[in-house]
Amino acid sequence: MVNKYFVKSVAASLVLSFSASQAFADDVDFLHWWTSGGEAAAVGVLKDDLEGKGIGWKDMPIAGGGGDAAMTTLKARVTAGNAPTAVQMLGYAIQDWGDQGKLANLNDLAASEGWDAVVPSALQAFSKHNGDWVAAPVNVHSTNWVWISKSALDATGGNAPSTWEELVSVLDAMKANGITPLAHGGQAWQDATIFDGVALSLGNGFYKSALIDLNEDALGGPLMVEAFNRMATLRSYVDDNFSGRDWNLASAMVINGEAGMQMMGDWAKGEFLKAGQKPGSDFVCVRFPGTQGSVTFNSDQFAMFSGSGSSAAQEAMASSVMNPVFQSAFNVVKGSVPARTDVPDMMFDHCGKKGMADLAAANAAGSLFGSMAHGHTVRPAIQSAIVDVVSAHFNGEFSAEEAAEEMVAAVAAAR
Ligand code: GAL
Repeated sequence: MVNKYFVKSVAASLVLSFSASQAFADDVDFLHWWTSGGEAAAVGVLKDDLEGKGIGWKDMPIAGGGGDAAMTTLKARVTAGNAPTAVQMLGYAIQDWGDQGKLANLNDLAASEGWDAVVPSALQAFSKHNGDWVAAPVNVHSTNWVWISKSALDATGGNAPSTWEELVSVLDAMKANGITPLAHGGQAWQDATIFDGVALSLGNGFYKSALIDLNEDALGGPLMVEAFNRMATLRSYVDDNFSGRDWNLASAMVINGEAGMQMMGDWAKGEFLKAGQKPGSDFVCVRFPGTQGSVTFNSDQFAMFSGSGSSAAQEAMASSVMNPVFQSAFNVVKGSVPARTDVPDMMFDHCGKKGMADLAAANAAGSLFGSMAHGHTVRPAIQSAIVDVVSAHFNGEFSAEEAAEEMVAAVAAAR
């Protein structure tokens, strides 16, 4: 049954696009890191939407998964007095820029469009700074996913793993079948993205205590040692050329049957879709084994820099991004789920529908946590200290016990 609301929204959106077709004085100079095939397709949805509303577009893509390079470029541009109009930003990075007073206030727009009623409080915690809306959330990604080649899984017996032990036996079976069991890109942010799932698989309490509350007993305790032992186990399933590989090239290894699975946020689904693959027939999406019922999320938000470009164009962009019709069209392509709770899941595939259901269930159950790897548990300075220890261990610099000790020391030094 077609959702009447959704049809009305489509109609309203079309009227809006014709009526608001006035050109804006400035283009929107948008800095982001969406450069893979799937991401570029999603950016295309955004660009078409804005141009349909007469908003010009100056694209500033900065390649580098996870956004570290983009954030470095942003800092340089702001220091040079040349801040972009709008920036893709994650979690606590928004709070850091809010502390510096650089972000435009979007309260009037948020009030006129009722954002408070439809954006989950877990996201508002990052979209707002001192109670003011300073960013518009376009999506909710989550990182505790595993993307498994259906044919590779069938060759192991066809049962997707739901526990750590089952995961290891599927990886072993894939190794015996002669393919790379785990496709991975050896970049710190990707090592950390796997760590999100591994840490969460050791319990909600451990994840929260160690990576959100920064409790020293958790950071240096036996479960942290076990987390690093599990990371060492996973390290034994990657291929010899993993170091430095971009995440979307790891996705391609699963897509082309060279590897069995990838542990990555659901932006990876955008690559499978772009390659014409379908969930269920070509690939299987499962929550990282042991994390079912919980979600580690990261929301891509558009922060507007005050005084950079026309505030009218900034508000028009924020309004477009928050439009329910756009939120559906963009997230279907991006692999994420809508940031608004009032968008129907009718356009989403099985994995998208599962992502939306998991998010709502975790939010209701108190098992919705920010992603450490993608800036949603602690401020950037502490997050990068944690990521450095995870990546150093993954590259053999520490034993599990040494890594747990390093974790305590690194976090203490960064606080
Ligand atoms: C995340 C971001 C995603 C995607 C991913 C890979 O931080 O939220 O949208 O860009 O990095 O680069």
